Order: sequence, then C-alpha cells, then structure tokens
Amino acid sequence: MKKYIIIIVFIAFSFIGCNNLGKSNTVSNKEVLVKETVEANSKGYALMKQKCFICHFEKPDPAKRNQMIAPPMLRVQEHYQPSYPNKENFIKAVMAYVNNPSQDKTLMPGAVKKFNLMPKVVYDQTELRSIAETLYHIDLGSMPNMHMEMGEGLSLNNGQKWKLKSESIEQVKSIIEKLNSFNSKNIADNNQLGKDVFDDAKLILLDEDYIGDLFDQIHFFFGGIEDNMHTLIATKSIKEANIHVEILKTEFANFNKYFE
Ligand code: HEC
Repeated sequence: MKKYIIIIVFIAFSFIGCNNLGKSNTVSNKEVLVKETVEANSKGYALMKQKCFICHFEKPDPAKRNQMIAPPMLRVQEHYQPSYPNKENFIKAVMAYVNNPSQDKTLMPGAVKKFNLMPKVVYDQTELRSIAETLYHIDLGSMPNMHMEMGEGLSLNNGQKWKLKSESIEQVKSIIEKLNSFNSKNIADNNQLGKDVFDDAKLILLDEDYIGDLFDQIHFFFGGIEDNMHTLIATKSIKEANIHVEILKTEFANFNKYFE
C-alpha cells in the first residue's frame, strides 16, 4: 500500500514539475549545451578534416579500399572509445599517440602491420586537443566491419590449419592458461588480465613474419576479440568484466581449430 502511495505522489509531482517548473528554462539550458557541443565539434572537425583526413578517411569506403593509407577515423574511434570511456583519458591517449606513435602504445596492431606506424608529426597542442575532443564526441555513423565480426572471415587453409611459429603457439597457450585459471573478483586484476591478453595478442599481430593470407587470418581472429580485450582493460564493472572474460575463453577455445 505504502508503495502505491509513493508511486502516486511521485507521478503527481512529475506532472507538477512539467507544468510549473518553467519549461522554457529547462529547454533553453539544454539548447545552450547542445549548441556549445556542436560549435566545439565544428572547430575541431574543421581541424580534423584539414590535418588528419589527409591520410585517414572519415569512414570506410569500400570503393576506395585500395587507396587507404591509414585506418578510417571511424575505426580509430571504435578502438579508442571502449579503451577510454572517460573523456579526459580518451583525449590524453589520442594526443599521446599522435605526439609519439609507437608499437608500445598502439591499440590497433592490425593497422600498424598493414600501414606501418603513423608518422610522427608535430601539431599545435591546443588544436590537437580540440581534434581529440571532437573524436570523442563526434558521431561518425557506423559501418559494420564485416571482417571483424566475431570470427567472420576465418577459414582453413585448403582444409588444413594455418601454421604458426611455435613461439606464437606458446604465447596463445599461455593466454589460454591465464584466462582459464583466472578467478579474481578484483576489478584491477581484471583490467590487468585484459592488458596481458592484449599485449600477447599484439606480439603475434605485429610479428614481421606473418604476411599475406596468413596474416589476414590472424587478424580476423584477434580483430574479432579486440573489443572484448579493450573493454576488459578499461571496465569498472565486475559484471561486465566477467562477460568479456567468458567470451575470450570461448573464442580462444576455437583458436586451435584454425591454427597450429
Ligand atoms: C601521414 C599520414 C597520417 C596523418 C596525417 C595522420 N595519421 Fe593517424 N594514422 C596514420 C596511420 C598509417 C595509422 C595506422 C598505424 C598506427 O596505428 O600507427 C594511424 C593511426 C592513428 C591512430 C590509431 C593509433 C593506434 O592505436 O594504433 C590515431 C589515434 C590517429 N592515427 C590519430 C590521428 C589524428 C588525430 C590525426 C590528425 C591530427 C592523424 N592521425 C593524422 C597515418 C596518419
């Protein structure tokens, strides 16, 4: 009974709130906020167009696939958002990468392998910050990444498994052992696990010896779980961490169906 009264009172108040609390006030505040964001974006966007779209397409363009010399900005955003959900951390990470691109910092080892490291260019730091901030907010739309859907594109090599170097096989074995023996409820441990798994995956993706179709298959495999690794590195929710650890376990259990 008490519950119903509370609900009724709550509903009544929400109506009063709508009618009496000066509608114009709330709406205009919101409008100002939206306007500011758009303005901030358009300045940053203009800079991005000028400084970054020389190499990066804004989003994937299947017709111009072979003209690509860098990953589309949409894909960059998709890699940085799960890893840096916090705006300030996102901006810092993008700025740090652009100021000093390195294999150590990369979240996109597949792109480094395909296009080589982004060249180091010195940008005005205020402008670069504005670009990074825009990249955090901007809606670049979405385009399904056909090859990077979980395991999409993975296939055998004429019915045979793809042959990897024994050191890579050992690395994956150690990832699987790490995942299967992991049972901490501590969020920092979970974040560290994500980092360890991604660092091992990176070693294999960046290995100079893997090229052509073999590299593509390795990329399909790890590309399909990049989001899970990145989210695990950054998440503050133990529930979310558990979900991604489970997905990683399942996916890695498939590794030796395709590779040996
Ligand atoms: C001269 C070409 C070029 C220009 C100009 C350029 N990039 Fe890149 N960028 C690349 C290439 C190539 C990669 C892929 C290799 C890599 O990740 O290092 C890349 C990757 C990135 C990445 C992903 C880093 C990662 O984790 O691997 C970010 C972030 C990035 N660029 C931001 C920018 C921003 C912001 C600008 C504009 C201020 C910009 N880039 C301008 C070539 C360029």
